Amino acid sequence: MRDLVVDVTGVSWVNGEEGKLYYRGVSIDKIVKNSSFEEAAYLLLAGQLPNRHQLDTFSWKLRQMMTHVPEKVLRIIQELPKSTPPMLALQSALACLACVYPNHLFSDESLMERAMRVIAQTPTILAAAYRHQLGLPPVVQLEPNLSFAESFLMQTLGFKPTAEHTTLFEKTLIVQMDHGFNPSTFTARTVASTLADIYSAASAAVGALSGPLHGGASELVREMVLDARAQENIEKYVEKILSENGRIMGMGHRVYKAPDPRAIILEELLEESTSPDDTTTEYYLLKQIAKISRRFFEERKKPVYVNVDFWSGAVYNKIGLLPNLYPGVFAAARMVGWMAHIIELRQDNRLYRPRMQYIGDVDLPYTPLEKRR
Ligand code: SDX
Repeated sequence: MRDLVVDVTGVSWVNGEEGKLYYRGVSIDKIVKNSSFEEAAYLLLAGQLPNRHQLDTFSWKLRQMMTHVPEKVLRIIQELPKSTPPMLALQSALACLACVYPNHLFSDESLMERAMRVIAQTPTILAAAYRHQLGLPPVVQLEPNLSFAESFLMQTLGFKPTAEHTTLFEKTLIVQMDHGFNPSTFTARTVASTLADIYSAASAAVGALSGPLHGGASELVREMVLDARAQENIEKYVEKILSENGRIMGMGHRVYKAPDPRAIILEELLEESTSPDDTTTEYYLLKQIAKISRRFFEERKKPVYVNVDFWSGAVYNKIGLLPNLYPGVFAAARMVGWMAHIIELRQDNRLYRPRMQYIGDVDLPYTPLEKRR
C-alpha cells in the first residue's frame, strides 16, 4: 500500500522529497537543538510550545505518573518468561493497563490525562521488562528531580546516567517521537477510531512497530555491525549483500527520497561524542557501511539513504543498552506521537474503514463435499 492518503493531520509533516520533518510546524533540527523531551512532547500533544508554568506542570505530572504503574501490572511482567523480548512485554502490559484503569467511556478522566499516563508509564514498564530478562529487580527508588530521560535511563540501567548519555538519549527520543502516518501510527489511529480504549490502541501500535521493516530494524543493524566486525573486507561484505538483493537494515525509506533528517542529526551527535581517528568504534564502522551502500545505490540511481534506525542503535549501545531494548525505546518515544494522533483524531472521531479492490472470483457454484476431489 503506497502513497495512500487516508486522513489529514497537523501533528507532523514528513517532507520526503526534501528530507525535512516538522513537529506541529517546527522543524526537527530546531526542536532537537532547543527542547527537552517534555517540551517536545507538550508541543506534539497540545499543538503549541508550553509557557514556563505549562511546562513545569506537565513535567511534574509526567514524573508522578511514571512511578505509579499499577503493582498488578508490574507483577504480570515478573510472571513472563525471562526470554520475553521487552517489546512483547510492553505490548502485553499496555493492554493490561486497560484492565486496571477505568474504562474511558465511563470515566471523567480526560483523554490528555490518559495519554500522559501511557507516555509516562511506558518507560517504567519497559525498564521492568528489560531488567526482568536480565534477572534484575525493577528500580523503584528514583533520585528526586530527574528529567524524563534521566528517569527512563535510571530505571533501565539501575544508576543515574551521565549528562552526556542523558543528552544523547533525550535527543534520540525526540527525533523518534512522531513521523507522519507510518505503519504504527496508522495502527494507533485505526484502533482509536473504533472508540476502543487508548491502552489497546497503544498496545496495537507497539505490535506494528515491532516488525523488522519498521521499528525492529535498529536491533538488526546491531546484528549487522557484529557480523561486519568479523569480516576481513567491509567493502566486499556490503557489496555481496546488496548484489544478492539483500537488505542493509537501517537503510531506505518509503517516504524519504532524500537523506532522513533524523539520521543526519543522530550521525552528528555520534560524531561529536566519538574521537574521529578511532577506527575501532561502531560509529566508524557504520560510516563505512553507509558510504559503501550509498555508492552502490548512487550507481543505480536509487534514492536509498540511511534512516533513523541506522544510527539509533549506536547511541543506545554507547549508553550501555542491550539490542533487544532498542525497538522498545523507539516505542517509548513514538508513544508521544501515537497519543498526539489519537487526541487529534478524537476531536472529530471518524471510524477508519478503508476499501480494498476485490480481485477474486464471483458467483462460483457450490460443490458438495462428496463431489470435491
Ligand atoms: C522506520 O514510515 C515511517 O515513517 C517509518 C519510520 C518511522 O519513523 O516511523 O521512519 C521508521 O520504519 C524506518 C525504516 C526501518 N526499516 C529498515 O531500515 C529496514 C530496511 N529498509 C527496507 O526494507 C525498506 O527500505 C523499507 C521497508 C523501509 C521501505 O521499503 P519500500 O518503500 O517498500 O521500498 P522497496 O522495498 O520497494 O525498495 C525500493 C528499492 C528496491 O530495489 P528494486 O527492487 O527497485 O531493485 O530500493 C531497494 C530495494 O531493493 N532498497 C534496499 C533497501 N531499501 C530499499 N536495498 C537494500 N537495502 C535496503 N535497506
